Amino acid sequence: MNVLIVGGGGREHAIAVKCSESKRVTKLYAAPGNAGIAQLAKCVDISVMDGEALVAFAKEKDIDLAIVGPDDPLVAGVADCFKDAGIKVFGPEKKAAIIEGSKAFSKDLMKKYGIPSAAYETFDNADDAIAYIENAKMPIVLKADGLALGKGVLICNDVEEAKAGVKTLMLDKQFGAAGDRIVIEEFMTGREVSVLCYCDGTHIKPMASAQDHKRAHDGDQGLNTGGMGTFSPSPFYTDDVDKFCKEHIYQPTMDAMKAEGRDFVGILFCGLMLTEDGPKVLEYNARFGDPEAQVVLPRMKNDIIDVMEACIEGRLNEIELVFEDKAAVCVVLASDGYPEHYEKGFPIEGLDTFADKDDYYVFHAGTKLVDGKIVTNGGRVLGVTAKGATLVDARANAYKATEWISFENKYMRHDIGKAIDEQ
Ligand code: AMP
Ligand code: GLY
Repeated sequence: MNVLIVGGGGREHAIAVKCSESKRVTKLYAAPGNAGIAQLAKCVDISVMDGEALVAFAKEKDIDLAIVGPDDPLVAGVADCFKDAGIKVFGPEKKAAIIEGSKAFSKDLMKKYGIPSAAYETFDNADDAIAYIENAKMPIVLKADGLALGKGVLICNDVEEAKAGVKTLMLDKQFGAAGDRIVIEEFMTGREVSVLCYCDGTHIKPMASAQDHKRAHDGDQGLNTGGMGTFSPSPFYTDDVDKFCKEHIYQPTMDAMKAEGRDFVGILFCGLMLTEDGPKVLEYNARFGDPEAQVVLPRMKNDIIDVMEACIEGRLNEIELVFEDKAAVCVVLASDGYPEHYEKGFPIEGLDTFADKDDYYVFHAGTKLVDGKIVTNGGRVLGVTAKGATLVDARANAYKATEWISFENKYMRHDIGKAIDEQ
């Protein structure tokens, strides 16, 4: 089977590793890929947003399955391009990816179908939003409706901050058209857990749970990032929580999307908060999380092609997902200064150390091959993942492995997976 992976980050590298482990894959391609993916796949320099060029390439190479990794192309309808051309594709169509592309859509869906989430109001103009804030309970959460690189969420502690937030999103348009409409949401407290689920439009099966660390610095300080590290499983995602979520969140979401004529096929990423009143949905994403994929996929025993094909063919109910008992921790090695200003182009040493070691992975996020040498090429450079018998072991292993890698301005958090000590 010829497989094309669309994307070029750590998530797509983790997908590529799973595809390369599948007995069913004969040839693997990636667009655009990166220096790590290039060790497993033939990379072609086509933008993830260029549906037409991706389809032309897929036809030329007799691609049997296309896997679309990132949110932007999914929300823009790149999966539809493959589907319309008669090419099997793993990833939701545009009309289903809206569950991530519009926060107002996802909030309305949850309200209509009784899926637990924070109370909210939607606003199309700044004056109404500000009037609402005057009498609202603080803290409060403002969310740009559209995609904003994961940065369109503002948690405001008082009325002045919230008013300034409305200005940032709706008037200054810091996130462009994503802020034409905003959702103002009740502030919730509790543990956060990410659960990524395979979906075939009718059936939904959760993978092992994970948790992300979004802030740039230790102790959850500093700016929000795409994610500085992850661990799996979450000790807070108990069997009772799982049972509740299957009954009240996962299947109801699947059924709601079907009832709306938006059958969801692909990965539904449920960002959950475990509140005093039970688990509630913080957000949905229409794809694997990055770096959640870097801890969840290495623990999955199934052949990823079998699972994805079952999703596309509407027979996910025939598949039993199996995860290793071992835990996994992923520490992101970033360029110092990320997510703001940072330099790139520095040579990376030590990547070969991972080659002969089971249970250790180095996923490339922002790397590039220049004159035969792999150099840094982004804010998030690598994801170093290790497994261990327990989360504590996995964390020790992951931090040991971060020492095998060196590059100028290497930066990482030192407390990834730390919450687990509190058990
Ligand atoms: P989102 O992109 O919607 O997941 O939001 C990003 C982050 O903002 C989440 O991971 C939470 O930490 C926080 N957040 C979002 N919504 C809420 C809320 N209603 N209450 C408290 N924190 C929230
Ligand atoms: N790590 C969060 C995300 O992928 O959205």
